Amino acid sequence: MSTDKKTFKRYTVTSALPYANGPIHIGHLAGVYIPADIYTRYLRLKGEDVIYIGGSDEHGVPITIKARQEKLTPQDIVDKYHTMIKDSFEEFGIAFDVYSRTSAPVHHETASGFFKTLYDNGKFVEKETEQYYDEETRHFLADRYITGTCPHCSYEKAYGDQCEHCGTSLSPTDLINPRSVLSGNKPIMKKTRHWYLPLDEYEPMLRKWILEGHKHDWKSNVYGQCKSWIDQGLQARAVTRDLDWGVKVPVEGADGKVLYVWFDAPIGYISATREWGEARGADWQKYWKDPESKLVHFIGKDNIVFHCIIFPVMLHAEGSYILPDNVPANEFLNLEGDKISTSRNWAVWLHEYLKDFPGKQDVLRYVLCAAAPETKDNDFTWKDFQARNNNELLAIFGNFINRTLVLTHKYFEGKVPEIPVNDSLNGITPTDKQTLDSLAAFPEKIMNSLDNYRFREALGELMNLARLGNKYLTDAEPWKIFKDNPQRVQTILNISLQICGSLTILCEPFLPFTAEKLQKMLRVGKPQWKLAGSRDLLKAGHEIDVPALLFDRIEDKEIDDQIQKLLQTRKDNEQVQPQTPLKPPITYEDFARLDIRTATITAAEKVAKTKKLLKLELNTGLDTRTVVSGISGVYEPADIVGKKVILLANLEPKNIRGIMSHGMILMAEKQDGDLSFIVPEKEFPDGEIIC
Ligand code: 2FM
Ligand code: ZN
Repeated sequence: MSTDKKTFKRYTVTSALPYANGPIHIGHLAGVYIPADIYTRYLRLKGEDVIYIGGSDEHGVPITIKARQEKLTPQDIVDKYHTMIKDSFEEFGIAFDVYSRTSAPVHHETASGFFKTLYDNGKFVEKETEQYYDEETRHFLADRYITGTCPHCSYEKAYGDQCEHCGTSLSPTDLINPRSVLSGNKPIMKKTRHWYLPLDEYEPMLRKWILEGHKHDWKSNVYGQCKSWIDQGLQARAVTRDLDWGVKVPVEGADGKVLYVWFDAPIGYISATREWGEARGADWQKYWKDPESKLVHFIGKDNIVFHCIIFPVMLHAEGSYILPDNVPANEFLNLEGDKISTSRNWAVWLHEYLKDFPGKQDVLRYVLCAAAPETKDNDFTWKDFQARNNNELLAIFGNFINRTLVLTHKYFEGKVPEIPVNDSLNGITPTDKQTLDSLAAFPEKIMNSLDNYRFREALGELMNLARLGNKYLTDAEPWKIFKDNPQRVQTILNISLQICGSLTILCEPFLPFTAEKLQKMLRVGKPQWKLAGSRDLLKAGHEIDVPALLFDRIEDKEIDDQIQKLLQTRKDNEQVQPQTPLKPPITYEDFARLDIRTATITAAEKVAKTKKLLKLELNTGLDTRTVVSGISGVYEPADIVGKKVILLANLEPKNIRGIMSHGMILMAEKQDGDLSFIVPEKEFPDGEIIC
């Protein structure tokens, strides 16, 4: 990516509004909130006009499902989680200028007004379609409220929008034997009317704006996803739903309809800014409407299409808004080698971390930035957490600061010593000069990384500055020379203190709690970016406070406790998962109709644009054939060539994603979705019968 050349008057920074149906976990933090917080803190240090916007996303079907499960109202659910999320962000130092919520009246009014403007200006297409309807409960059924059998892999609990077994996207009418989640009944088809945003009409604008305009400054994962969406051909998207929870559609004859959650949620960024502005009598509109404002959306990769295509089309269609300058989306963070999962409780929850590690916000901020999934999915492990605290924060950063401050008190009564310029024997040596020159170059390096959303790299440079200080002090060995040459020690400690001063400023975006402690210890005022790198940051004679330790060692016991907690979760999951109920009996004849045989995989490759499908070539002893199987993610193509498998060979051929699949490989499947091939205990040639 190129360096940021265009200058802006102000910055509007948003971070994805988390759904208020569960707490925040480390995946959210590493992917979205920590980078956004670092970015905005950095801009504030530079004295820029910046607003950092957050809030809870409180509409949508999952919230109504959760409310049903917990026998509460959707409002109860969002009240509970909004408060929990807001409090934990605050305690963790995510410094939003405003943290709002989409159930707030200001949001309903803003979102409704936005829809109305597009409606009045003829930007929507109105269509009548048939949709599943539950006659007993008298509800149109959202996709997630319909389950049935997947037409691709025969999984019986597929949802109306996706089969979680083979990963295929579905529409409710694809399901075999559809059932309403509300009543368990078979739904009927009923006519309904909705408003669609014709994305296809905006293709030229999107091509010009993204594919030509942002080829070099957007991250390649973001650009790549956008290009693939646009190249596939965009279609009109319904922006209203038949649901009773959400922002009411402000049009006559739209009773029982609300705005689609992905239409209203991003408008939540605007409503939050408006709330912020109206509360303090500030002009909020310029953050969204002045082309000299830079709009940046921090999100996870699953939100790319909404922030790069749909929301920009909405903003463009409305006509008075700016478009995002960048959308630095991150990949996903895993936990101890496994996907983070709310339903399996496989996560490190922020509110629990804050309880288990009081006062250690910066440790988690540091680890999650150092291991952020910026270019590919990454893994969080508790051992790595411990190692980064003990070997990096404590051994490098904390150690350098502590040694410098302790020595200043020991030799100079806590006062910054003067560099004795007039002493020909002392003064500045070539090493001192080199160190000061390096120090001066750090702010620019860190700034360049931050301007280009490379937060790991920026943090790496910050630590390099601490390393520079450590090496300088260790090589200079002031404790050995003080007796004979106290003047030389004045220079060494003066330079070391200047590095401490710069670290105090430059660490603030990453480690704000540490920065605050350092400001107190060094007795310096509000940090300013432009002062970092200076060789004269702390004036000679300035008195500093007594040092306190910045970081504590994290002991094995604390880490083992966390690992035990996860192991217990894994065990609980295995026990709690209800066993799939026994299917109705079949006759031997039913069974005998199945032709099940041994076979060998001779080739394997991923099916493009699917998450879970592999295209396999099999040798069955009778023939060679193609089978599409939903095992990608569990097995890599390269690892399974040559594997013996069990094949249901006479399953009717089926077209799956344009590939004819002749049969089905039988797998053992755990409740958590993990899969395993079934293999004969002895060596068997291909084509032998399973009976
Ligand atoms: O994926 C999510 O968690 C969504 N709640 C993000 C919404 S971002 C924005 F559009 F509000
Ligand atoms: Zn399926």
